[in-house]
Amino acid sequence: MTTLALFDEGPRAIADGAIWLPGHALAQDRALLAAIEQVTAAAPFRHLETPGGLRMSVAMSNCGACGWVSDRRGYRYADTDPLSGQPWPAMPTLFRELACSAAAAAGYAGFEPDACLINRYLPGTKLSLHQDRDEADFSAPIVSVSLGLPAVFQFGGLQRADPAQRLPLAHGDVVVWGGNSRLRFHGVLALKPGHHPLLGEQRINLTFRRAR
Ligand code: SIN
Ligand code: FE2
Repeated sequence: MTTLALFDEGPRAIADGAIWLPGHALAQDRALLAAIEQVTAAAPFRHLETPGGLRMSVAMSNCGACGWVSDRRGYRYADTDPLSGQPWPAMPTLFRELACSAAAAAGYAGFEPDACLINRYLPGTKLSLHQDRDEADFSAPIVSVSLGLPAVFQFGGLQRADPAQRLPLAHGDVVVWGGNSRLRFHGVLALKPGHHPLLGEQRINLTFRRAR
């Protein structure tokens, strides 16, 4: 029996240089979660302060050679976790391989991430529209992996006021943006309450970047 395909589950171009890969991380979900637990045991989730002194609602950690941090002094990449003074946990091989395979599937062969930001969203958590622009050069793409509760990802233009697409990202989805889309504004609408079979009441996002 053939099943009627109501939705095209394959890769979807969302802008020039930007692609949505539904389910690209699904086969590794349990292994990814185990690795996230290991990383966040060493570098726990915390709520960073914005340069303006506001507490971010997204809780964050990092792994890799450097990690994204924010405080009163600004946004930047740091070699060590400010909480412990120790280097960030190494990027698990599984993470790196997933990021490279997603980048290659999106047309960015040779991506070598040196930073992985781990974002945790609980119901009500949101991330306002922003550009990823703290990296040394913008030739490498951003690779973003969604796990747990679904979320609405806003994907806008190069100006903050440009209209934004709303992509309903599900567990296992990956979005890659680079090239002409590298500096597009993006964000996440407030997470809706719910229960995910593997993650419970949360969403975790992995953002892979070449920071240096
Ligand atoms: C980010 O822009 O850093 C995270 C995006 C997401 O959580 O999907
Ligand atoms: Fe971002």
